[in-house]
Amino acid sequence: MDLNGKHIVLGLTGGIACYKAAELCRALIKQGATVQVVMTEAAAQFITPVTMQALSNRPVFTSQWDAREPNNMPHINISREADAILIAPCSADFMAKLLHGRADDLLSLMCLARPMDRVPLLIAPAMNREMWAHPATQRNMTQLKADGATLLGVGNGLQACGETGDGRMLEPQELLQDVIAFFQPKVLAGHHVLVTAGPTFEAIDPVRGITNLSSGKMGFAVARAAQEAGATVTLIAGPVALATPRGVSRIDVVSAQEMLDACLRQAPLASVFVATAAVADWRPENSAQQKIKKDGSGQVPQLGFVENPDILATLAKSARATSGALYCVGFAAESHDLLAHATAKRARKNVPLLVGNIGPATFGQDDNALLLVDVNGSREIPRNNKLALARQLVADIAARLASATA
Ligand code: C5P
Repeated sequence: MDLNGKHIVLGLTGGIACYKAAELCRALIKQGATVQVVMTEAAAQFITPVTMQALSNRPVFTSQWDAREPNNMPHINISREADAILIAPCSADFMAKLLHGRADDLLSLMCLARPMDRVPLLIAPAMNREMWAHPATQRNMTQLKADGATLLGVGNGLQACGETGDGRMLEPQELLQDVIAFFQPKVLAGHHVLVTAGPTFEAIDPVRGITNLSSGKMGFAVARAAQEAGATVTLIAGPVALATPRGVSRIDVVSAQEMLDACLRQAPLASVFVATAAVADWRPENSAQQKIKKDGSGQVPQLGFVENPDILATLAKSARATSGALYCVGFAAESHDLLAHATAKRARKNVPLLVGNIGPATFGQDDNALLLVDVNGSREIPRNNKLALARQLVADIAARLASATA
């Protein structure tokens, strides 16, 4: 669970998005966090403290005059225990209040009283689009960031008021991902990571083609882990049915040639390239413009194949990679003799790091095991879920980049 051991103070302020805070509270707890809910008087008009107490399994605090705390200082006690304070939803009024350091209710008092160096403040705004776009709110947002708060952004779409635009609170699952990402070490800050993922599809005719069983899960996990680590991430994905990780730019492609073209366009911006895609080795020599018809004669079409470009080898040979500006990492899906094959493949593709895995044991699965092979030897990252492995791989790549520049 990604939030094991974390204690989150979840602050609710007045807004219809309070109904989403119930789901968020549960989502945080499911990931292992303990949650202390604090609500403003206005928030309690939208959702009851009873609901939030039942979900968080803790009495909710709503007043600075709450006598339950022996020293009668809930604003001090609650904020000292927290690993983070998350205000979700945060109203326009509460943003304005935070900005001025006002402290006339428990939640604002607690935010002001928090030890800034060890209790981060995360803000999930929620308001009507005109309120969000208002120069006062935008000014407040800029200043709150300057004062050290983390603004989690807003969603776009139909609002409870019937208008459409920016200002909705992010969905609970989006906020959960942002909170999890917030706690990951920012070991790739300043880097731009390019990731390929999934299979490619090589057309035989407009309705048929050849592809493979890659699910794309490992590559999507690498993209997410790199984003969590503070990198700018571009994910070039073959045909897969996976949600784009938060904060990642995704480019969908179909064939190996399209994947190569997209990589060549993106590579000049990148400092790290991780090739997890299972690129088809061959494509039909001629893709028919129209569906090849079965004519009843029993004759089968004669298909010829040509080799696809090797995307990883092409990028590894580029001036950007050979000059050290682009660090290339390959993957190898093998069925046996992993170390020998991965070692040979690393040398053949001329990349500093190659990650071996057993293809049949991982294709489509949620877990995997990795063997990291470099010029000095190999290191195993034992079986785990793909996101946990991706985080360890990202940490390993970051350490290599840091030692290369040290
Ligand atoms: O040669 P093989 O396909 O086993 O190499 C695997 C590695 O090379 C992976 O990192 C894969 O993404 C990359 N690759 C590529 N373009 C190809 C074939 C493989 O980028 N045409």
